[in-house]
Formats: sequence, C-alpha cells, structure tokens
Amino acid sequence: MTNRELIKSAILAMQNAYAPYSGFKVGAALLTAGNDIYTGCNVENAAYSPTNCAERTAFFKAISEGERAFIKIAIVGGKNGIIKDYVPPCGVCRQVIREFCDDDFIIIVAKSENDYKEYRLIDLLPESFGANMLED
Ligand code: THU
Repeated sequence: MTNRELIKSAILAMQNAYAPYSGFKVGAALLTAGNDIYTGCNVENAAYSPTNCAERTAFFKAISEGERAFIKIAIVGGKNGIIKDYVPPCGVCRQVIREFCDDDFIIIVAKSENDYKEYRLIDLLPESFGANMLED
C-alpha cells in the first residue's frame, strides 16, 4: 500500500463528512498490519460535543471489526472540503491513537497525493499517558 493510495482513500472518505455546523470536512484512511484500509470522516452533532473526528471514526470502525495492529493513517481536510493546508490530528485523536499504536505509528497529513508530511506518533504525542501507567 503506497502513501499515495492511502491519501486517495482519505480524500474519498472526506466526501462523506457530516459537517453541517463547521463546514470543515475531514477524511482519514487507516492502514492495518494485514494491509486493509479503514476509512473515516468527521460526524458532527447539533449538541456539538458528541462530534466524532475522522481519525477516531476510522479507528473505531477498525477496532469494532476486530483489528488490533496498525501501520499508518492518512488525514486530509478543509473548509467545505477544499484542502488548503495540512490537518494535524486533534489532541483527543492523538490519545486514541496512543491506545492502539506504538511510538513508531506513522501519521500522514496531506494536501494532495503528492504533497504530504509524515510524523511518528512519538513526535506528535511525547511523554504520553498510556495503559502501561495503570500497571501495578
Ligand atoms: N476534525 C477532525 O475530524 N479531525 C481533526 O483532526 C480535527 C478536527 C473535525 C471535527 C469537527 O467536525 C471539524 O473538524 C471542525 O473542528
């Protein structure tokens, strides 16, 4: 699976964004260790706080299908679905990623299939709190 293909899936997923309040559409495509892709979009809510980000939609779809091993995620977004800038994952999504991925998990933020930046989770969420902290 190339980064280009993953970004293309994220761009397609963005088309399904339900974002009537912000108008900001986001798409994500999550690659599993088994080479499958789970996509997600943001799903907003009139009460605002129940809103789910694209990244979490992708993760929750995958987890609920039994997936547990992940390689990378591609994220795209923009006002009215027009991509002008890189969209970094919000803090809540970084923490959700931390639950299921190790430090080397790759996060791709893209403006297009050819224009993207890659980070490792450790770069975007250093000194994080995880399940290991709850061990005896
Ligand atoms: N959003 C995402 O889906 N992912 C992010 O990483 C940043 C924000 C969504 C949430 C909300 O529907 C809209 O973008 C504006 O914040």
